[in-house]
This record gives sequence, structure tokens and C-alpha cells, in this order.
Amino acid sequence: MENALTVENLSKSYQRRLRQPGLLGAVKGLFASRFEEVQAVKGLSFSIGRGEKVGLIGENGAGKSTTLKMLTGIIVPTGGKLEVLGHIPWKERRQLALNIGVVFGQRPQLLWDIPVEETFKLLKTMYRIPEDVYQAVYGEALHRLGLEPLLNTPVRHLSLGQRMRCDLAASLLHAPAVVFLDEPTIGLDLSVKEQVRGFITDIQAKFGITLLITTHDLKDITETCDRLLLLDKGKLLFDGSIRAFEQKYASDRRIVAETHKPVEASAAQALSQAVGKSGGKVIEAEGHRVVVEYHEEGAAPALIHLILQQLQVVDINLEKTDIETIVTRIYRSDTAKA
Ligand SMILES: Nc1ncnc2c1ncn2[C@@H]1O[C@H](COP(=O)(O)OP(=O)(O)OP(=O)(O)O)[C@@H](O)[C@H]1O
Ligand SMILES: [Mg+2]
Repeated sequence: MENALTVENLSKSYQRRLRQPGLLGAVKGLFASRFEEVQAVKGLSFSIGRGEKVGLIGENGAGKSTTLKMLTGIIVPTGGKLEVLGHIPWKERRQLALNIGVVFGQRPQLLWDIPVEETFKLLKTMYRIPEDVYQAVYGEALHRLGLEPLLNTPVRHLSLGQRMRCDLAASLLHAPAVVFLDEPTIGLDLSVKEQVRGFITDIQAKFGITLLITTHDLKDITETCDRLLLLDKGKLLFDGSIRAFEQKYASDRRIVAETHKPVEASAAQALSQAVGKSGGKVIEAEGHRVVVEYHEEGAAPALIHLILQQLQVVDINLEKTDIETIVTRIYRSDTAKA
């Protein structure tokens, strides 16, 4: 697969002016130049193939936006190499602009006094977008993102969610080869989030766009991406498929059975022995509820069979740790990061 972008040992440090506390400190700070270095990104290496859909996650301050700003040529790296569509972003920003699309959700870019429809037409001219591409994306945006009622409103008068939708449509209008979306669903209500995800998925598929999304809403990723990058304090902690991520950090799965009668101690013990041979472990047997935990992906059928054989079951459910829980666990614990 041809690469759309490559990042090699990429680093970025910011200089932050140190201030003494209080008003006097603020005044002094204007004169005294004491700086501290913040290492926002520390030696990142990864590449993304053409047409891949990748989600970038990490705690606040992990370095996600910094990475996207380097990839889009907004800021210059302090170390390492990067290339997007054969260009070095900060050196060749203009050449790249026609082929990438960018949304920074925390700071919508369209802030003009002209109506939405005019804004789109202006972009069409500026980017010399072919009529068929324009119509395809514009049509889809109107339909998917419900932009019709907004077309005559000046962009400045839109609510955050409305502006966000317009921003997204605008950034995809030229069907760019690579799209960078930094928190594209921030501040949106649940139904608009769904609209946005649907629109991204559709346009991605239609034009085979390479997609890199950062977000704190993991549904954005499970619904639009196949691959996950997890940043931790500027370093890459995980790079792989969403499935591999689940397998690595949450291999525990559970079978939860509800029984007709309360489970007796002897029955629980017998079950414990039986499931133990098939890779399961009874982690709860109380009242009408029995929980068997296992790790091997294919073990469920045999374990369920044993449970049904030994107990009078009225209901049975399979559970696995959802991705939000996994990510919260990783953010909270340092052990998972080892
Ligand atoms: N212009 C700047 N000057 C100094 N430090 C900065 C600057 N921009 C970012 N930082 C610092 O770099 C680190 C990474 O910031 P970045 O914005 O990349 O994080 P993020 O992963 O996007 O976080 P969030 O989820 O909050 O958006 C943070 O410690 C932040 O304080
Ligand atoms: Mg950010």
C-alpha cells in the first residue's frame, strides 16, 4: 500500500515563558525572559497508507493537536522527519493545501460575514474544484448534515454546532486526498454527532480519502476508523487495529447467567471445576447470578454448554469490556502503559 503520510522520530518542544505568581509577577514576566521547555511530542514514528482511516487518541495534553498541526504545516517540528503526499508540510504548505482538508473543532475556521452558500461557492473558486466533485460533496453535505436551512445565514451568526457542520463540509468540498480532523464532534449534540460521522464515512468511502481523526469521543473512532493510535505524553503507546487494541488491553470476557433458583455452594463448586478445564473461571455465584470469566476468544461455546448443562438457566449474556472502559483504565493507570 502506498503511504499517504510518514512520520519518523517526530518531535516538538514549545518554549513556555515562566511567570512568577501575582500581578507583579505578570509585569516582571514582560521583561524577564525565563523559559521552560515543554516537550509536546517525543519521537513519534508511524505511517498511514492511502485510504486508511485512523483515529488518534490520548489524554488532554498528550500531543494530538500538536501532531496534527505539524502534519498540516501549521507549525514546524523541532526534530525528526515527516512527509504528507510526498511533501514536507511546513516547507510546502501551499502545494499541500489543495490536497488536504483540515478541521480544528476547538477553533472553527469559517468566520466570515457572508452566507454559508456564498462561502462554499467562494471555496469552489479558490480551490478550483471540478463541478462534479463539488456537486457530489455539496449534495451529500446538504442531505447528510442538514445544511439546507443554514445556507442563507452568515457564517458568523451560526451556533457552534451549525458552524462545525459547515466547517466540516467546507474542508471536504475539494475531496482532498488526506483529511485531518481534530475533534470534529466537539460540542455537538448526539444526533448531530451521528450525522457528522455518517457524512465522514460516506465521503471517505466515495473518494477513498485517507483520514486521521483525533477525538475524546471513542464512538467517532469505532464508527469511522479501522486503526487506532494511542498517544501518551507525546509518545506512541499503541498502534494497531481496534480489534488488536481490545485484545491487548481487555482480553477478559464474561458469560453472565441468570438461574431459575439461587445457586447452591455445591453447584457453584462443581461448575467451577468443570469450567476450569475449558479455560473459564467462576468469578461470581450469588443468588440467581453466575459470572464466568474467560480470555480465549473461542472458548465461549464450550463454557456456555457447561453452564447450561449444570444449572437451570433462564437468561444468558456475553459481555466484554467496552472501549471507553479500556481507555479510561489506561489513562488512569501507569501499569497498563508499561
Ligand atoms: N503554543 C503552545 N505553547 C506552549 N505549549 C503548548 C502550546 N501548544 C500546546 N502546548 C503544550 O503541549 C502539550 C500538548 O498539547 P496538545 O494541544 O498537542 O495536546 P492535545 O493532545 O491536543 O490535548 P487536548 O486533548 O486537550 O486537545 C501540552 O502540554 C500543551 O500545554
Ligand atoms: Mg487537542
